[in-house]
Amino acid sequence: MITTADIQAFQARKTPFYHYDLKQLRALAIKVQNEARSRNYHVHYALKANARPEVLDVFVNQGFGADCVSGAEVRAALEAGFASNHIAFAGVGKTDDEIDLAIEQDIFTLNVESIEELEVISSRAVSRGKTARIALRLNPDVDANTHRYITTGLEENKFGISGWQIAEVMDLLRSLKGIELTGLHFHIGSQIQNLEPFRNLCGRINHFQQVFSDHGFHIQHINAGGGLGVNYDQPDELQAQDFEEFFSTFDQLLELRPGQELHFELGRALVAHCGDLISRALYVKRGQKTDFLILDAGMTELIRPALYQAFHSIQNLSNSESKELHKYDVVGPVCESSDSFGKAVLLPECRRGDLIAIRMTGAYGESMASNYNLRQLETPYFRG
Ligand code: LLP
Repeated sequence: MITTADIQAFQARKTPFYHYDLKQLRALAIKVQNEARSRNYHVHYALKANARPEVLDVFVNQGFGADCVSGAEVRAALEAGFASNHIAFAGVGKTDDEIDLAIEQDIFTLNVESIEELEVISSRAVSRGKTARIALRLNPDVDANTHRYITTGLEENKFGISGWQIAEVMDLLRSLKGIELTGLHFHIGSQIQNLEPFRNLCGRINHFQQVFSDHGFHIQHINAGGGLGVNYDQPDELQAQDFEEFFSTFDQLLELRPGQELHFELGRALVAHCGDLISRALYVKRGQKTDFLILDAGMTELIRPALYQAFHSIQNLSNSESKELHKYDVVGPVCESSDSFGKAVLLPECRRGDLIAIRMTGAYGESMASNYNLRQLETPYFRG
């Protein structure tokens, strides 16, 4: 949420910068954690969505685990105060150094994505006289019905171990030293906007569970991944009840075995709402059909519209009252035509110097920012 007091504070600052409402984030984290705990579920926060220390602090304090996809994220999680036995580490391309770090820190699981990786983890653990806890990331071949760049659970995607490889994996698990299979891991994609893909996922998890138990493998935990989508049309509406529906889908459809834990790794749905990108209008350039509103923020600060054609609502914070709307192509200063936040966006009249907010950018906003064109974000503004 952006208040009048925030807008006043923004006026004295250099743009572009990210604004974070930590109070709102804390409130949502508490609600989600209560909901999960009431069902005895475990939620890991996916650091890739936003790894700001102030954001991580909220999740550490509310007792979340961490979901990491690089050695640097594992280190950031440890530094933020996540307990190492609450850290999961996934990724198709873990380096030897990253695997060593995970083994040495004795993290919750390395989520293994290929047969070759399984062999590497085993040999590196053996050479250290250690046993690495692993989960197999299985590719369930379930369509997440989302943008193809953020679909991860189809056979054609690079992620996870496919069903046809399981027999070979089981043979290896019986022979390899230095590894202990503790879990099965799934993650089918991101920004999933209805529950159907999760229902299908439950069916596939039940199937895989049966295969493993038929072959005498005991699975301590299931990790159903993340992916819960958000409604980018409503930046000021919190979505606590969506989590309830999400969890209850698994409650109803997933056949957990006695004593088995269910874990999730959510990113976007937890942090999307708490952040906004704040910029200034540099120029309003007349176009033949639509005027261009040229901001001092661009695809370097927020790449989602350019990369996934993602929608983020745009607000003129300096002129929010006026009922008369004008059409603008809202663009950034970067030398690429993909550097656009929206076409024919209806906004109250915009003038040079106006503060323009690009809303709901707490997830995959700052964490995906680059310094292409040697551009630099200003330091963030935190409320609460
Ligand atoms: N677990 C794994 C293994 C993942 O790869 C991801 C996200 C998550 C959990 C968290 O997913 P979430 O709950 O946030 O959907 N940059 C894209 C999103 C990429 C998601 C990558 N993996 C975007 O801006 O839409």
